[in-house]
Amino acid sequence: MDIQNKICLLTGPTSGIGKAAAEKFAGAGCNLILVARNRHRVEKLADELIRKTGNEKIKLFTADFSSIKEIKELSDLIHSAYSRIDVLINNAGAYFSKFHKTVDGIEASFQVNYLSRFLVTNLFLDLLLKSVSGRIINVSGQHYRKGKFDILVRENNNYTGMMGARRAKFADMVFVFELARRLEGTNVTINAVHPGSVSTCIVNNDPDATVNMKLLYSLCRPFLRGAHKAAEDLYYIAFSEKLDNITGKYFYKDRFKEPLASVYNRETALKLWDLSEELTDYRNTLFKNNKLIME
Ligand SMILES: NC(=O)c1ccc[n+]([C@@H]2O[C@H](COP(=O)([O-])OP(=O)(O)OC[C@H]3O[C@@H](n4cnc5c(N)ncnc54)[C@H](OP(=O)(O)O)[C@@H]3O)[C@@H](O)[C@H]2O)c1
Repeated sequence: MDIQNKICLLTGPTSGIGKAAAEKFAGAGCNLILVARNRHRVEKLADELIRKTGNEKIKLFTADFSSIKEIKELSDLIHSAYSRIDVLINNAGAYFSKFHKTVDGIEASFQVNYLSRFLVTNLFLDLLLKSVSGRIINVSGQHYRKGKFDILVRENNNYTGMMGARRAKFADMVFVFELARRLEGTNVTINAVHPGSVSTCIVNNDPDATVNMKLLYSLCRPFLRGAHKAAEDLYYIAFSEKLDNITGKYFYKDRFKEPLASVYNRETALKLWDLSEELTDYRNTLFKNNKLIME
């Protein structure tokens, strides 16, 4: 595979799994599009990547994934700079132990961990379809297992951090399998990966993490997986020729794992899709009657 000509868009590159992935992909010589919410942090990262890898094919964009408007603006900027994307890695994510509403009035975990991915993926699908072989990878987890579909994403409803994470990750998984169905027969694949329990900044990044939560996490860190290992899995899923045309799969690290049957439920998927279009005020004209319009 001609990795040096691949154009890869990575979200959430400024810490944890995303940062390790940015290093891995830059080291391999890819053209990298890094999308982060913090300009200063991503500029610092790019300097570090260029110094370490010598790869200067790195472009930076900023968007906060808790804002639908910022994602739509990001799409305009990227469409004016690129005519193709080969790999999209939906990695950005956050844990919110308390209930927060975004500027769009939506519960923050649902918006940052799922809805933003729905929007980013749909907005960039035209560019992925221009690739000889486009790959979308959603960094998922296992919280989806106890999640369920819920339309009440503007309301508190006895919110807990775990409830928010489960609902968002469940939606993300259902979306992955629905999009895989819609993209059948095209050159674009989509898969989800659970990276295992990885030592990252996810707890420190929680705006409401208590001192006890941070302490507990720091005690667990030595037993967690290194982020560079998760980055190697992402690299494998992004580029391995063994995975050509493999779509609609759930990986645990670099192996296939059968997800719970609930994520394949079509009725849930269609309801979620409708809700996501309504919340983002975006309807992808590439689809008609829940199918991709093939030219
Ligand atoms: N760590 C694990 O054990 C584990 C397990 C399963 C799944 N995951 C998933 O792995 C992904 C990466 O998480 P991580 O563990 O590497 O966490 P992390 O170290 O906290 O990294 C999260 C990344 O997402 C970015 N981000 C957070 N909120 C954002 C927003 N509103 N807009 C744009 N970017 C935002 C962060 O940017 P800043 O640097 O600006 O904060 C950071 O770059 C997440 O989707 C997470 O759910 C992690």
